Amino acid sequence: MLPLLKTRVPGPRSRALARELRRHECRNTTFVSRDWPVFWERARGCNVWDADGNRYLDLTAAFGVASVGHNNPRVTVAARRQLGRLVHAMGDVHPNELKVRLAAELSTLTFGRWIGKSGIRDRKSKILFANSGSEAVEAALKTAMLATRKPGVIAFVGGYHGLTYGALDATAWRFFRAPFHPQLPGFTIHVAPTEAAVREAFRDSDRGIGAVIVEPILGRGGVVVPPDDFLPMLRRVCDEHGALLIADEVYTGFCRTGRWFAVEHWGVVPDLICVGKAMSNGFPIAACAGRAEVMDAWPESAGEALHTSTHLGNPLGCAMALATIAEMKRLRLDERARRLQDRLPGRGLGLMKGVELRDAAACQRAVQRLLRRGVLALGGGEHGNVLTLTPPLTIGGRELEFAAEEIARAAQ
Ligand SMILES: Cc1ncc(COP(=O)(O)O)c(C=O)c1O
Repeated sequence: MLPLLKTRVPGPRSRALARELRRHECRNTTFVSRDWPVFWERARGCNVWDADGNRYLDLTAAFGVASVGHNNPRVTVAARRQLGRLVHAMGDVHPNELKVRLAAELSTLTFGRWIGKSGIRDRKSKILFANSGSEAVEAALKTAMLATRKPGVIAFVGGYHGLTYGALDATAWRFFRAPFHPQLPGFTIHVAPTEAAVREAFRDSDRGIGAVIVEPILGRGGVVVPPDDFLPMLRRVCDEHGALLIADEVYTGFCRTGRWFAVEHWGVVPDLICVGKAMSNGFPIAACAGRAEVMDAWPESAGEALHTSTHLGNPLGCAMALATIAEMKRLRLDERARRLQDRLPGRGLGLMKGVELRDAAACQRAVQRLLRRGVLALGGGEHGNVLTLTPPLTIGGRELEFAAEEIARAAQ
């Protein structure tokens, strides 16, 4: 549905809640101003209703999470059913059957589909579950350490891999790193996305490079699609040096870019892939999938896992993820995202688009104008100048047409 605004935006209830939040939440977390934020109350498909009853058209899918549509009925049924049965199990001790099913499904969707490509002979892969994208990235980094015994990591300028300390070490943005620099482990070398820079980093590293981590398409970095030879080059250079290629598909995974996973645009098979966000359509669950022989660098558990967490493989999250993946297949959302790609302006692939504006101020203005017209969008890019568009992949043609008109007007 198109937006329907009943009050000025933000309305009185949102403003009152923002004032109250400021009193209780760390002031760094939620940005509060006269015009921001609106408090979400409920959502359905590509629409969100706020605490004042205003209806918005959501072009964010809430950070790329709600790919099968907010409150997707089939995912909701699966979640409700699971809520009445078992909400929490003992992830790495006494688990629940759904963890088995989701691990098998993730293996089939990734390495199972990639068999035959880039020398992949074996469809076996293994999964490490996590609670967030950052944790999935850290699981991949630890796996690379165990598998190669080389601690160094190459990551790319503009790359975003999360903000927990291990993931932050790989994240290149100065903004996020600078205040914590003295506490960062410092195993990552950040380089420009060129063959010469990657080769130089391999040559110059005195500690040995065990992994290259890359977002196949920069997400928070402003939706930047690399040249066609970039990922194949990384695959080649990693193979030459015995390093692992980690695809961080936390943002790009699960049909967002018009393929199940973005690496498929270039036919490149990574050694490890990190997924999260859209995987469950809203439950905090993520995963790192890897080739079995790489994953088997982890020792067999003798009763104490080296890497785990309290909520690992949560049954509710697994139920939602299985239902979400089933919806993506049923609705063929990979094809749909490809088909609808040109209906939104800007660069990118599938329904992950970025409209580059003059500067951060112009982008903020556009985001604000859109909000006042009932359209939710976010700024992105390391310099904050890219209007980022990642709507639910179920968004309809009429909504896309309306969105394109409003974006053109807001970006003037
Ligand atoms: C590519 C990528 N990796 C990792 C992360 C971190 O995920 P999370 O915020 O769930 O920790 C993000 C989040 O935006 C991301 O876009």
